[in-house]
Amino acid sequence: MQANVLVIGSLNMDLVAQAERLPRAGETLLGQSFATVPGGKGANQAVAAARLGGQVAMIGCVGADAYGHALRQALADEGIDCQGVRVAEDVATGIAMIVVDANSQNAIVIVAGGNGQLECADIERFDGLLQAADVVVCQLEIPYAVVAFALERAHQAGKTVILNPAPASGPLPQEWLAWVDYLIPNESEAQALTGLAVDSVDDAEQAAGLLHEAGAGKVIITLGERGVLFAAGAQSRHYPGRKVQAVDTTAAGDTFVGGFAAALARGLDESQAIAFGQAAAALSVTHAGAQPSIPTLAQVEQVLS
Ligand code: RIB
Repeated sequence: MQANVLVIGSLNMDLVAQAERLPRAGETLLGQSFATVPGGKGANQAVAAARLGGQVAMIGCVGADAYGHALRQALADEGIDCQGVRVAEDVATGIAMIVVDANSQNAIVIVAGGNGQLECADIERFDGLLQAADVVVCQLEIPYAVVAFALERAHQAGKTVILNPAPASGPLPQEWLAWVDYLIPNESEAQALTGLAVDSVDDAEQAAGLLHEAGAGKVIITLGERGVLFAAGAQSRHYPGRKVQAVDTTAAGDTFVGGFAAALARGLDESQAIAFGQAAAALSVTHAGAQPSIPTLAQVEQVLS
């Protein structure tokens, strides 16, 4: 298969508990439900891109266990080329422990497992996937050295390079910024990257300004119900959020990133691609779980029509 979107990133099995609220330190709470759900920022973005009209391939790493098998199968079921998802012996598949509260907010702890075993050699081995793609998408749930290698290689190959810097714990290495066409953090990631609290559209504009000063190209800061701030140099535009009844915000950002990537790969312009990603993300928060919540192209087009 010739993929036009290549996602290089993580696959996690999400262990999801629903509870009235998030627990405090040392507290035991009674939850309402529990489910194991395919997730991981990389896999979620791959599934979003595939459901939303992209031809998608993924490079990643899972353990040789039941979760790893299920996660690869979930990608294959979406028509995603997963020859680049290596199955590593002697390591468990990555997991995410997620608590979702009654206000649809979540708290997540991830354990990298197989994601931490991804190597630059995996990117080299599947260079054909990278060369064939138009758009290459990375996040930060795999080793930084592999992200750097992938971003530089994709940039040198002339691909449109998207980095969703999630999770972010501090500023990005400066040389990365020159390799990335679209940097897509959420509010807390923008704060981690810049040191500036991002609680409003104005804050997001300032944070984008700092990222440009540091060398970033186009920046898209996702702001939850406040929408999206797009900034390119001195130009910026706010796309207001869509009003929806949120049930679970898990993977909303991933749906935006995957939808945006697929839309660019389908030839939509930047502004259309942002509006498309936003509509997809708004639909995703009305359903529970990571990959199960991601809408199809037909569902998004219906909302946009
Ligand atoms: O962005 C949501 C994802 O973050 C979850 O699916 C979880 O696996 C963590 O990686």
